[in-house]
Amino acid sequence: MFTPASRSLAPDYALLARQLESILEDERDLTANASQFSAFIYDTVEDLNWAGFYLARPSKKAGGEQELLVGPFQGKVACARIAFGKGVCGTSAAERRTVFVPDVHAFPGHIACDSASNSEIVMPVIKNGTLYGVFDIDSPSLDRFSEADREGLENLLAVFVAATDFS
Ligand code: SME
Repeated sequence: MFTPASRSLAPDYALLARQLESILEDERDLTANASQFSAFIYDTVEDLNWAGFYLARPSKKAGGEQELLVGPFQGKVACARIAFGKGVCGTSAAERRTVFVPDVHAFPGHIACDSASNSEIVMPVIKNGTLYGVFDIDSPSLDRFSEADREGLENLLAVFVAATDFS
């Protein structure tokens, strides 16, 4: 069967998980660990143009709702606030699930912060049943992320969540 070149880009996620555990082992602060995690992903996963957090914060609009506010990230300047349910990030937050987008141009409502992005994966950040935000990873390549990437990235995010205090 033909295998696209992008399928061979998956790094050794088990090794990355061990490295990440060691990087985060002496620190539980959210800002510090979220910054380190973003830099680690951006540095160790090939072919990315953005990797970072959108954190759940009180909405600037009246009504006491939450929205997503950009947090620690690597890449170009991004949109600051995203409503729950909007774009890929807002969908991941509202539905509390990983959203896997092989072609962002085919995703209704995709928010183009960086026009270089062509594929994207967004994972919810959940600890003890509470949603704290999402982690967004963008690539300039179409169909960049394989199932192996999804599994490996979800596992790395779980290492970050376990190593971090959110309140
Ligand atoms: N594309 C995202 C917005 C965030 S940026 O890509 C950094 C979305 O549709 O939610």
